[in-house]
Parts: sequence; C-alpha cells; structure tokens
Amino acid sequence: MKFAVRAALIAGVLTAATLPAAFAADEAEDVVKYRQALMDIVGAHTQSFGALAQGKISSKADMAYHADGLAAAAKRARAAFAQNTASSDAKTKAKDAIWAAGSEFPKMAADFEQAAARLSAAVKTGDGAAIGEAAKGLGCKGCHDKYKED
Ligand code: HEC
Repeated sequence: MKFAVRAALIAGVLTAATLPAAFAADEAEDVVKYRQALMDIVGAHTQSFGALAQGKISSKADMAYHADGLAAAAKRARAAFAQNTASSDAKTKAKDAIWAAGSEFPKMAADFEQAAARLSAAVKTGDGAAIGEAAKGLGCKGCHDKYKED
C-alpha cells in the first residue's frame, strides 16, 4: 500500500515533469496540415453560407448551422497559427510576416473571431441587412492579401 502511494506520487511528478515537453512545438508539417484543415472548414462553411445568403439554397436552419459552424471554427483560427512554421520546409501558404515582430496577424485573427460571432448573432435575428453587413465584416480577403500566398 505504502509503495503504491509512493509509486503514484512519483508517477504524478513524472507526468508533471513531462508535460512541458508535450506542449512543446509539434511537428511543423502536422501543424500546417492541421491549420489548413481548419481553414478548409472555415472555407466550406463560408461557401455554403454564401449559397444560402444569395438565396440559391433556401433553408434558415442550414444558414444558422453554417454561421454557427463558422463562428466555432473562427474561434480556433488564432491558436492554429500560434506555432511559428516560418523556418520549416512544411508546404504552407502562410507568409513569414505572420510571426514577425509587430505583426497585426493576432489582431486580425481576433477580429475575425468577433466578426464571425456577430454574423452568427445576426442570422438569429433574421434581419437580412444586418446579416449582409456582418458578412462583409468577416475580413477573409484583407487577411489573405496580407498574410497568405496566392
Ligand atoms: C487572420 C487571417 C485570416 C483570416 C481572417 C482568414 N484567413 Fe483563410 N487563411 C489564412 C492563412 C494565413 C492561410 C494559409 C494557411 C497555410 O497554408 O498554412 C489561410 C488559408 C485558407 C484556406 C486554404 C486552406 C488550405 O487547405 O490550404 C481557405 C479555404 C481559407 N483560408 C478560407 C478563409 C475564409 C473563407 C475566410 C473568411 C471567412 C478566411 N479564410 C479568413 C489567414 C486568414
């Protein structure tokens, strides 16, 4: 019994000691694939939302689903770019400037998160003008022009 407790304590210390390693940099290639998959989700929700907003597809429920999905994905965008992959040979379209001193990227990512949340709220009001206004504020192009290779 005594031994078991001590072993558990030691195991606890070891777990704590190895935690920082687990949070250390992930493989750049995996990080890039992961964030591109996240941005693909952003892209898919936006494209589907667009078809609904333009009236090509009529479904209020789907419109809410894609706006909420976009807001959820947008919440993860900033973190997905937290790890600097600039000096890796991973195939990325993310410009090195994202991680340069004075980069506006984190602010743009935070603005994107808020804009997507506003869009999701606007969809719930059902007010077409508010939805259109909120959609314009997403800022996809502004960020891509500055921080994404074509
Ligand atoms: C804060 C900046 C920022 C915002 C805002 C942003 N993006 Fe991106 N996006 C990027 C960057 C940088 C990449 C390149 C990622 C990479 O290749 O590692 C990217 C990549 C993508 C990709 C390609 C993913 C792939 O598989 O290569 C799509 C699709 C995309 N974004 C869609 C959107 C849409 C749609 C919006 C708006 C609703 C948006 N993005 C908003 C910065 C942004």
